[in-house]
Amino acid sequence: MSTRGRYGKVTDDVVALLAEIAGVKNVLTGDGRENYSRDETLRVKPVVPEVVVKAENTDSVSRILKLANQRRIPVTPRGGGTGLSGGAVPIYGGIVLSLEKMNRILEIDKDNLMATVEPGVILADLYQAVEAQGLYYPLYPGEKSATIGGNVATNAGGMRAVKYGVTRHSVLGLEAVLPTGEVVQSGGKFVKCSTGYDLTQLITGSEGTLAVVTKIILKLIPPPGNRDLLFVPFHNLHDAIESVPDILQERILPVGIEFMEKDIIDMVEQHTGKEIPLHQYQAFLLIMVEADNQDEVHRIAGRIGEICLRHGAVDVFIPGSERARRNLLEAREKFYSVIEHFGVLDIADVVVPRSRIADFVEKVKEIASEYGLPLVAYGHAGDGNVHLHPMGQGTESLEKKGKELLRRIYEVGVSMGGTISGEHGIGFVKKGYLPVAADRGKIDLMKRVKRAFDPNNIMNPGKVFDLE
Ligand code: LAC
Ligand code: ZN
Repeated sequence: MSTRGRYGKVTDDVVALLAEIAGVKNVLTGDGRENYSRDETLRVKPVVPEVVVKAENTDSVSRILKLANQRRIPVTPRGGGTGLSGGAVPIYGGIVLSLEKMNRILEIDKDNLMATVEPGVILADLYQAVEAQGLYYPLYPGEKSATIGGNVATNAGGMRAVKYGVTRHSVLGLEAVLPTGEVVQSGGKFVKCSTGYDLTQLITGSEGTLAVVTKIILKLIPPPGNRDLLFVPFHNLHDAIESVPDILQERILPVGIEFMEKDIIDMVEQHTGKEIPLHQYQAFLLIMVEADNQDEVHRIAGRIGEICLRHGAVDVFIPGSERARRNLLEAREKFYSVIEHFGVLDIADVVVPRSRIADFVEKVKEIASEYGLPLVAYGHAGDGNVHLHPMGQGTESLEKKGKELLRRIYEVGVSMGGTISGEHGIGFVKKGYLPVAADRGKIDLMKRVKRAFDPNNIMNPGKVFDLE
C-alpha cells in the first residue's frame, strides 16, 4: 500500500480524538502547519500535513499511533526539521507527529556515564546539560538545533566520527512505540547485550519508518582535557587524502579529519567576508585532536603535521587562540548553508573507503564536466564520507541533469566499495537510488522487516523505499 488514495483522511472526528489525547493546544489544523511541511533538504517541495499533533509523553504517542493505525492515516514523526533527505516531509499528508515538546532530559547518570533523554531534546541543550554535570556527549553532527530523536532516526554522523563513531555508537537503549500503540523497551543502561535481536540498532537509522522513539539512553564520556586544530594546505587533493591512512596507521586517533578544496573556501570568504588562512592553496585537511593534557595534544599535533608534510603539505597552520580555532571550525560548519547562496542543485552524501576519496572525487568531477556542471566537494576524510554539490541555478533541465549526474556519482561510489548515504539518510529524495546500493534481496528483506513492524504502512510512508 503506497498510494495516497488508500489512506484514511483526517476527518473532524479524528481531530476531536487527537485533541482528547494530546490536548487542544497541541493539535494544529489551520495556520502554523506550514512550519511542518518541509525540512532543510535542498529544493524540497513543501507538503502541508492535514494535522500537526505535538505529543507530550509516551502514552500520548501510543494513543495517537493506535488511532492512526485504526484509521490508516499516515504519520510522519518530526524532530527539529533539520534533515537533508526529506525524511520529515509528510508526503502523503496525514499527521505530522512533532516530538518537540518531549524535550526533557530525564536523567544524567554520572556513575554509569549515561543519559536518558526524550527525543525532542535539542542538541545544544543536551551538550549544556551534560557539561554542567562534568560529562560530555561527543557526537557532533554539526547542527545544534537538531534534536537527538532526529539524530537517532537518521543515524547522524558529522565531524567527530573518526574517534567517536556515529550516533548509533552512542545509543545504548530505546523506548519506542509501534503503530499498534505497543511500547517496546530495548537495550538499557548497560554496555553489553547478547539478549536476542538488537532492536535498538534496527530502529536507529530507520528514519521513522518502523516506530516512534520516545526515550533514548545515550553513552557519555568524561570531557577531553585539551584540544587542538590543524589546518593543512596541499597543492592537490590526492596528497591530502594520502596523508589520512598514514595518520591512522601511526596509532594516532584524531577526533575528526575533514577535507575541503579551494572553491568552497572561496565561497565561505565571499559570503562571510572573513579571510581563511592560507586560502590560496588547492586542498586542505582540517584535523581535530584532543588529549588529556596540553603536552600530549602538542605531541599528537606535531606528529600529524610531520606526516602531512611528508605527503606534500605546504604548511601546517595551528590557530594561535581559542577564538581563531573556533572561527575555523565555524567556517567549516557553515559550508552547507553558504553553498546554498551560490546556486546548488543537490547534495550527495556518499561514503567510500577513505583511501579512495581523491580517486572518487577526481572521477566524479570528470563525469560532472560531461554534464557541464561544476561539482564542489568537501567532507569527512577520516571516515570516507564525501559531500558533492552539483552547482547551477535550478532550471528544470538543469535539475534533470543534476539528478542524472547524481545517479552516476552513486554508481561510481558503490563501484569503489562505498554506499549512497553516510549520514543524511535516504528519506524520499534518495529512495529512487537505493537499488544502486542495495540488491533486491536486501531491499526485499528490509520491506519484510517494515511489514512486521508496520503492516498498514502508516509509519513515515514513502521514505527509504516504497512498499508495493
Ligand atoms: C556537512 C553536512 C552537510 O558535513 O553533513 O557539512
Ligand atoms: Zn557531513
